[in-house]
Amino acid sequence: MGKIVAANWKMNLRRESARALAAALAAQGRRCWLFPAHVLLPVTAQAVQGSSLKLGAQDLSPSEDGAFTGDVSGEMLADAGCELVLVGHSERRHGHGEDDALLLRKLQRAMAAGLKPLLCVGETAAQRSAGQAREVVAGQLIVLEKLETARRRGLCAVAYEPVWAIGTGANATAAQVQEMHRHARAVLETLGLGALPVLYGGSVNPANAGELLACPAVDGLLVGGAGLKLDSLSAIDDAALKA
Ligand code: PGA
Repeated sequence: MGKIVAANWKMNLRRESARALAAALAAQGRRCWLFPAHVLLPVTAQAVQGSSLKLGAQDLSPSEDGAFTGDVSGEMLADAGCELVLVGHSERRHGHGEDDALLLRKLQRAMAAGLKPLLCVGETAAQRSAGQAREVVAGQLIVLEKLETARRRGLCAVAYEPVWAIGTGANATAAQVQEMHRHARAVLETLGLGALPVLYGGSVNPANAGELLACPAVDGLLVGGAGLKLDSLSAIDDAALKA
């Protein structure tokens, strides 16, 4: 069956490059999860139609439709063809000051709109050097306790993405990943979510994907930069198919 490969395109690509990349992945029969910027959703939705690719958004508003300038609601994303949505990516937590209370509202809104959230967690370099990595990740996951059990089961996955490994070229080692994924899984078990896939993200590329995917506790990868090119994303997905 293989492991999951999710590509977070962040604030990159244009309508034509997004369409071409999604269409090429669809033509190869890939089953990756794609997260384009909001404005690229319609063109990507069209390209993935009838394929095994899944479409998701990178963020959503914590509010329902209304007077929220610049926001995009979960219902709008579902209407644009999204099945999934990222919540709590480190660039939202740290670049936009999104805290757990706000992320909980986003999780609730996503589920109310019928979207399956992918919750991202991970410690900063300072938190890791202070020996707080496990505590920080547990704290970010325990937020799920506030969701009703049936709602919690609506998540599609959790991604462990150490902040220090995102976009830096310094991926976590297989041993660090295995330890943190085991820890995340133990926390998820206490929430009745033992079966939820736990993905790793942070400087994944075709050269390190195989080793990361070989960790038994890694159920898949969330890829940033390497997900913007057909050859690198295909190579990572090939590794995931074999894992
Ligand atoms: P990166 O990004 O692969 O470019 O490090 C990962 C992510 O932010 O999900």
